[in-house]
Amino acid sequence: MNVTKPFFKMNPARYIVVFTVLLVSISCKKKINTITLNKVEFDQTNNWILLERTDVKKENNTFSWNFKVKQPAEYVIQIVSNDELSEGENYAKVKIGAHEFKESLSKNYVINATKIVSEFKNRIQFKNTEKQRISITTDANFNKLRIIPHYKKPIGSGNYHQEWLTMHQSNEKQEALKRFKEAKLGMFIHWGLYSQAGGIWKGTKINNSPYPGPKVAEWLMYAFKIPREEYKKLAKTFNPDKSFAKNIAKLAKDVGMKYIVITSKHHDGFSLFNSKSSAYNMVDATPYNADIIKELYDACLKEGIDFGVYYSHGNDWMDGTDGNYANVKKVNDSLGIYTHPTGKNLWNPTKNTHKEYLQNKAYPQIKELLTLLPELRLIWFDGTGFVTEKQAFNFYKLVYDINPKVLVNRRVGYSFGDYLDAGDNKIPSASEKLEKYWETCGTTNNSWGYKSYDKDWKSPKELLYYFVDILSKGGNYLLNIGPDGKGNVPETSAKNLREMGKWIHQNADAIYGTSRWKIPNEGQEETLLEGTGHRAVKGFKRNFTSKDFWFTSKDNKVYVISLSNTEGDILIKSLRKGEGSVEQVKLLGSDKPLVWDQNKNGLKTTITSLPINSLGYALEITLKNK
Ligand code: GLC
Repeated sequence: MNVTKPFFKMNPARYIVVFTVLLVSISCKKKINTITLNKVEFDQTNNWILLERTDVKKENNTFSWNFKVKQPAEYVIQIVSNDELSEGENYAKVKIGAHEFKESLSKNYVINATKIVSEFKNRIQFKNTEKQRISITTDANFNKLRIIPHYKKPIGSGNYHQEWLTMHQSNEKQEALKRFKEAKLGMFIHWGLYSQAGGIWKGTKINNSPYPGPKVAEWLMYAFKIPREEYKKLAKTFNPDKSFAKNIAKLAKDVGMKYIVITSKHHDGFSLFNSKSSAYNMVDATPYNADIIKELYDACLKEGIDFGVYYSHGNDWMDGTDGNYANVKKVNDSLGIYTHPTGKNLWNPTKNTHKEYLQNKAYPQIKELLTLLPELRLIWFDGTGFVTEKQAFNFYKLVYDINPKVLVNRRVGYSFGDYLDAGDNKIPSASEKLEKYWETCGTTNNSWGYKSYDKDWKSPKELLYYFVDILSKGGNYLLNIGPDGKGNVPETSAKNLREMGKWIHQNADAIYGTSRWKIPNEGQEETLLEGTGHRAVKGFKRNFTSKDFWFTSKDNKVYVISLSNTEGDILIKSLRKGEGSVEQVKLLGSDKPLVWDQNKNGLKTTITSLPINSLGYALEITLKNK
């Protein structure tokens, strides 16, 4: 006899009990899962490669392993040993694919109380996640090799990528990006309380400030470790001319700049707009007593110029505590990773947490800006510092949710930007393949903010050269001005920009809405602009000959740009027979088509009647087909 009652024969009451228990247990399980998911903080060591000495066969003193990185990025190599490396031991040769270097190891950290981590200075860029082989030749008595993401470019979990991608690929964003790409030239404005000081504090030039760090004028507070209360006093005298907004919008228009990005809040924490979240702003704290960001916004819209704001979200020396430095350092120290103090207020930090600063000031101010400026086109975040992956994502999403047409730059953090920047005063090389559209931001002297004694102005020709080089590589140029405390743009920089602007207006067809042609240039080798310091030290020495050309293209037209004003015969080799069939050649700014000849050596034509002192010219080559 079968004694077990079949399930369906259970009495209804028991049936209900079992069912309820089942339901409760499922829902509990679900809850537990979400809780644990939220609780599991991303562990940065997930992106590390750990190679054990014991896993490899040693050949003399060379050790080799195969490995793959999880995400393409910039990495550094470290070795872990039981003891401090002695001299002779700390020298090693490393080979990864074609990349090879010999270097002594430096930067020592102590982890787990006893283990020593030593690091190479050399950084390695992994462009893919394919299998790699690393060999290290060393006498060091190490037990582990670590390949870890460089601290300046942390890699996240990737957990937000899909959600970000959906927003980034939305029609609104893509249309905004298209408009941005067509604009090509923008005006960057670094302006704030520091502009009154002009890079000098109590008689000392910022370049001679006693502390390390950037020597650009907007870093005044940092460079002299000025206490918060003392720095704040600068607001009391900040009373620029009422004509500021109109003048700036006019200058941008004259130069041919299609968009503006102004520091709505720089690292010093002062907001140039009316802010409910912080009284340290242009309306509440200065005698000016009005919202100058809104004024500039209105003036720009009137001139048909797109409006964007710079916003320092990670660094805020007034309210952002130590930028989260101490917390990050604690974790990093235990792992043996360097923590960069640059940009962090370690001299007079507020007592709140960095999280509180984000909650109470940074997120609300981004909301304020988006509400105040309904036609805003771009938020240019900066000072990422130790903003986490989640926080960087929050900023991106916050902007998107309020106004999906607003673009966000790379420096928001991790990979959440809608486009890239090549770095301050940096132009990428022609061979570099960037996965997103890009912009170079550049200075007109060697500082962003007004520095009264920096007269090293880039000439109109130099500025134009960078612009043309950027254009030919398919990017945007965001060119900076640093007005003084009254809001006046230093005369020479305004004059040089206007001079460049004349050329730009004359050759507009070769600029706006163009893309990269099949090659960027012909003639001289490219000189790369490698950062603000680089140009400051090296200066600019270049002659442009009638054999140097830069190219851009649009539909069935190729634009050939020359920075020489020599008249006479020219030969453009890249347009030789077979490289597109020429229909017409025109000098921009004149109506007469030129006489030309296309043969196996190139496209030949003759340049005449250039205006005196012209910075160069541009030709429009119409091809029979695209
Ligand atoms: C750097 C500087 C900052 C400047 C910016 C411009 O991040 O910290 O002062 O605003 O570059 O790109």
